[in-house]
Amino acid sequence: MTDGTGTASAPVRIPEETTVGIIGGGPAGLLLARLLHHSGIGSVVLESRDRAYAEQRQRAGMLEQTTVDVLRRCGAGARMDREGLVHDGIELRFGGRSQHIDFPTLADGRRVTIYAQTEIVKDLISLHLSQMSDSAPLLFGAEVHSVTGIAPGAAGEDGDTQSEGEEAGAGTASARPALHYSYEGRERTLLCDFVVGCDGSHGVSRSALPTSVAHTYERDYPYSWLGVLADAPPSCEELIYAHSPRGFALHSMRSPTVSRLYLQVPNGTDPEAWPEERVWDELDARFALESDPDWKLHRGPITSKSVLPMRSSVTEPMRYGRLFVAGDAAHIVPPTGAKGLNLAVADIAVLADAFASFRATGDTGALDAYSGNRLRRVWRAEHFSYFMTTTLHTSPDQSPFDTRLQLAQLERIASSRAAATELAENYAGLALLDGPGEGATDPRPFS
Ligand code: FAD
Ligand code: DHB
Repeated sequence: MTDGTGTASAPVRIPEETTVGIIGGGPAGLLLARLLHHSGIGSVVLESRDRAYAEQRQRAGMLEQTTVDVLRRCGAGARMDREGLVHDGIELRFGGRSQHIDFPTLADGRRVTIYAQTEIVKDLISLHLSQMSDSAPLLFGAEVHSVTGIAPGAAGEDGDTQSEGEEAGAGTASARPALHYSYEGRERTLLCDFVVGCDGSHGVSRSALPTSVAHTYERDYPYSWLGVLADAPPSCEELIYAHSPRGFALHSMRSPTVSRLYLQVPNGTDPEAWPEERVWDELDARFALESDPDWKLHRGPITSKSVLPMRSSVTEPMRYGRLFVAGDAAHIVPPTGAKGLNLAVADIAVLADAFASFRATGDTGALDAYSGNRLRRVWRAEHFSYFMTTTLHTSPDQSPFDTRLQLAQLERIASSRAAATELAENYAGLALLDGPGEGATDPRPFS
């Protein structure tokens, strides 16, 4: 077999059964495999793409304190701690002026870290493969086609509805969950005790939730982002979120020599319509400051360019029988506010703890509470992402009245500690679960 890079590696026994079958080797699936491993729970990750693709997909970059803590606790924090950029706040630009929002002051000492999702995925894959044994494999190029045998009915499961989507013969309440997948040209089956769908917004796990039980709430936005990566040193110390009459812009970064920039563009935009000079000129125009008209971005070669549509979506519940869904498989946020990856990590931290508790005590309480607990936090993040998006972007049908309302809201954040605190607490991240110690995380390392 190969490790997905095309490099021949020692043959690995293809597992036929495991405790937790994980669909998808993005950040959610990889992290879950690590956390389960720490709790002595076996898992298999089936990832449809090859390793090189999974490691290069350009996505998120801003990590909440809780996300950083979870990555450290599972042993994947060393490079992040060396190379990540710790930020104390963000800058809002609107009406030609700039406003710093200070997180440690407003959000109980919390900070955020800039470290790319691509690097997190690389760190998790190399950690997992370096400790790989028959009990914890990760297969690239393994595409799951269907999930069967998840219906409630066996001990420790809530609900009493039979899954509608199950294949004849495999869907009885007593059947063991199974993942049906193709790997190296062969159809295979992986039997599991539980299945966790970490297969993103286009995966198969969400459609295994019966329509009689599950409901998806969604919203599209009338604009997209053009995201570029540039070999140019960042032009600022902090991330800049800019509201401008020309539309939204975001300045982020990946390292002291690489900038990550985003521009609001119309839906359906072709990235080829944005040659380098046009991108830089438009960014300069949207970030313009009245108090410093000479402020300009550092320019450099653009090495990647893509258009990202924006959508909000939540599927409820996040558990049906022996199937749990987590991360983008369960919910999508528009990227303004950088909640997508952080929500995925938080789902997994809570779910991994629930599996560990079930293994230690046989009590299913934490597994049963997973969906309800997470949905409360997910809806909070959905609202924050919606708020950031609609406050900072210009709709195609936006009236001058709408723009005045946005500016009034931004002025309020700039002038009221209460309003700035609301933004800072949501941006820097809330606690994984409701209850005392909001904002606190468990600093104990997994052992
Ligand atoms: P994913 O990262 O989508 O991982 C799912 C994995 O499952 C993938 O590796 C996929 O190949 C695999 N898979 C899918 N179907 C199957 C199958 N049938 N069988 C086996 N494997 C399968 N968030 C931010 O905060 N800021 C951003 O700037 C930002 N930019 C984004 C840009 C894009 C184009 C996208 C799609 C998302 C972006 N996000 C951003 C969101 C953030 O990246 C996601 O929230 C995060 O990737 C969620 O992780 P995940 O593991 O749940 O899902
Ligand atoms: C990044 C992306 C975001 O959506 C965001 O709000 C902040 C940072 C990033 O890619 O660095």
